[in-house]
Amino acid sequence: MEQSKNSGFNSKLGVILAAAGSAIGLGNIWKFPYEAGQNGGGAFLLVYLLCVILFGMPLLMTEILIGRKAGQSTFSAFRAISGNNRWQWLGWWSALTVLILTGFYFVVTGWCVNYLYEAVVNSYAGMGTDELLTHFTANMSNAPKMILCAIIPVLCTAAILWFGVSSGIERLSKILMPLLLIMMSLMVVRVLLLDGSGEGLRFFFYPDFSHITPSVFMEAAGQCFFSLSVGLGLMITYGAYMPKEQDVTKTSFQVILLDTLVAVLAGVIIFPAVFAFGFDPAEGPQLVFVVLPAVLQHMSFAWLSGVAFFTLLFIAALTSTISLMEVIIASIMEMSRGKLNRHYSVLIATGVICIFVAIYVLSMTGVWSGLQICGHNLFDLSDTLVTNYMMPFSALAMSLFIGWFMPFQDNDLVPHSQKRYKQWLRPAFVFSLRWIVPIAILLIFLNGLGVF
Ligand code: PFF
Repeated sequence: MEQSKNSGFNSKLGVILAAAGSAIGLGNIWKFPYEAGQNGGGAFLLVYLLCVILFGMPLLMTEILIGRKAGQSTFSAFRAISGNNRWQWLGWWSALTVLILTGFYFVVTGWCVNYLYEAVVNSYAGMGTDELLTHFTANMSNAPKMILCAIIPVLCTAAILWFGVSSGIERLSKILMPLLLIMMSLMVVRVLLLDGSGEGLRFFFYPDFSHITPSVFMEAAGQCFFSLSVGLGLMITYGAYMPKEQDVTKTSFQVILLDTLVAVLAGVIIFPAVFAFGFDPAEGPQLVFVVLPAVLQHMSFAWLSGVAFFTLLFIAALTSTISLMEVIIASIMEMSRGKLNRHYSVLIATGVICIFVAIYVLSMTGVWSGLQICGHNLFDLSDTLVTNYMMPFSALAMSLFIGWFMPFQDNDLVPHSQKRYKQWLRPAFVFSLRWIVPIAILLIFLNGLGVF
């Protein structure tokens, strides 16, 4: 594994930081609030938390355990563990999923870059609710600008991976992540002082059970996979670098706790502001990008707050893009059977991602905006396809792989502990992977296909 030269993951903290860096990103601050807004607020939060416990935790542990046992990246881990080629397709499937997802993720990171620039030049200052909405639409319809904004983070990520300094960035995020949390906490205080904020809190925390429908389950499960970065086998790579004595359960729990905390904080900022400023909670993907500038304008040191917040958001996104692009680079090296070195692979990955970015942006606003598949443009389609179908599908395959095809007698593939109070862990994990995860994902799929 090429990455091991400069992975820096020989410390426990290194793995936790890398995994948390991959997990915490736009999924928490951008996607979670808009999904919650479109799916009933408190009802979505409740179902989401349930999904995190039912799928998120066991699957994150599974990926880490597979990686630690195999000592290989996603592409070869299944072959290494099963001893045959029958599960190799799962490596290909993950690589394809990551490829579709990465372009999409860079487009949204580009929106962040755009708003960071706007914060620096103070261009959204003084705008009201309606103006912020039209401003967002105007930005999005400028395809060349949006492509440029998305290519900037692609090049930053490529440079970081080219020079092999990703572990440095993850270490840097040890300082930046708490800063992001502090910044978000200050924003929480500010929004709670706004008139009408209580209604937003009620919307976010009070579950209206009539909103809990099968499709909310599907969205919440997809959001859980997306936010925790599970279902792509990406955490397998981190597991491969994890020291044997590190407690998998504790590490997974820490990552999940941090990830969920950031998502909930984002909700506590967005929804009170949505109601106070008169936005529609079901606004969709633009929700956060119109609400945040409104909030930031009302902070003390408004300019500094805006620049600081969008910088931190950009860095949080970058630690996720690093993990995504690394999978593509590792897959290219693996496919070429060592003929392409890391630098060539970085160049190829960069080129391919730029093509995806251009296609997605043009499908939203540009020449291909008329091209609709199943009622979605290519940008929306990539999100729905990856989050609601491809990631849950590989999660299902992975749970079957460990739950039914790999014997649980293999102690390395099951969390265990000498401590008496943790004796329930092993049977709970086994039961969850054998029954709960596969049945729940199957039901969600069948619902998605309109069977119920
Ligand atoms: N978990 C990241 C986020 O919430 O922003 C997105 C992501 C990164 C998803 C890496 C999947 C992945 F493999």
